[in-house]
Amino acid sequence: MNLFDVYSLFDVTPVRAKGARVWDDKGQEYLDLYGGHAVISVGHSHPDYVAALTDQLGKIGFYSNSVKNPLQEELALKLGKASGYEDYSLFLDNSGAESNENAMKLASFHTGKDRIVAFRKSFHGRTSGAVAVTDNPKIVSAFNSHHKVSFCDLNDAEAVENELLKGDVAGVIIEGIQGCGGINLPTAEFMQTLQSLCRKHGAMLILDEVQSGYGRTGKFFAHQWYGIRPDIITMGKGIANGFPCGGILISPEFKAVKGMLGTTFGGNYLAMAAANAVLDIITKENLIDNALKVGEYLLANIPASEKIKEVRGKGLMIGIEFNEPVSEIRKKLLFEKHIFTGVAGTDMVRLLAPLCITIDDAKHFIEALKDVLS
Ligand SMILES: Cc1ncc(COP(=O)(O)O)c(C=O)c1O
Repeated sequence: MNLFDVYSLFDVTPVRAKGARVWDDKGQEYLDLYGGHAVISVGHSHPDYVAALTDQLGKIGFYSNSVKNPLQEELALKLGKASGYEDYSLFLDNSGAESNENAMKLASFHTGKDRIVAFRKSFHGRTSGAVAVTDNPKIVSAFNSHHKVSFCDLNDAEAVENELLKGDVAGVIIEGIQGCGGINLPTAEFMQTLQSLCRKHGAMLILDEVQSGYGRTGKFFAHQWYGIRPDIITMGKGIANGFPCGGILISPEFKAVKGMLGTTFGGNYLAMAAANAVLDIITKENLIDNALKVGEYLLANIPASEKIKEVRGKGLMIGIEFNEPVSEIRKKLLFEKHIFTGVAGTDMVRLLAPLCITIDDAKHFIEALKDVLS
């Protein structure tokens, strides 16, 4: 049997990793500034994380959501404290797309309405509703295209209000910082207006923090830079450092009804052991402050070059937009300098490093980039 061939692969086979370093099957070491697509938050194979998962596996690996699982409550408590959302509730699922799916479903249950407003250049995942609110027709099938969705430009409050005025909008979904669409930051003024507009028109504000959350931008959630409190916050990626896990934070205005949301695997023991360990490590090692410090260093020191159009981002969510396609630059960084980077579109190198990278790692990247661009 062959694998269904949907991924473009680099010819690299990682077999071991530690912190912000990865080694391939030939023993070559790499600096990881991609974090397996923003997933590695506390660093690869952190000893506390490995111990927590190993220990849990020796006790009980899985049972269903029909019995009590104190690890879920432990996570809710820790997450409430770490994020500043102690009065919100937590629903646990398995991925970013599923979190967005649940958030939009909840907004629709709550309001009785069925349209979602999303933004151009958005990415929210691959499941039916999540892909329908993703602004990329290439990955939306005819089956997915029946959802009622309207797209507005980022930072265009008037366009959003025109949609809300139609009276059928259940929710507005927006990324804390657009990731796959090219590290596009909404303005604080726009986000505050968006929150007021949603409240005024009875639509739920859904913040997709799957990529921008969990400390990546130097605050627990990127939207906390804008001084707003959304109705629902969606999470994934860094939440369990690579163990599949997602979740949503739900404001107290929502009433839980038995059976309205559900999942087989969401909140399972192993995911909870991983997610609890992640929060413990983030706190113990001050990784959110580190993300801000190293991110600011990178943003300030990425070299000026006629090839670079703009550098933008916050904390360790950084886009380097070039005046040309970046595939050769990324290949050189990977195969000559042994540095993993991400991409957005064709012209942007996207950095999504583990939150534990050091200033020395950042310096190493900057020197490598200068070499590659010279
Ligand atoms: C902002 C955002 N939302 C949702 C998703 C989907 O997450 P997952 O691939 O875990 O379903 C992603 C994945 O890249 C993302 O960047």
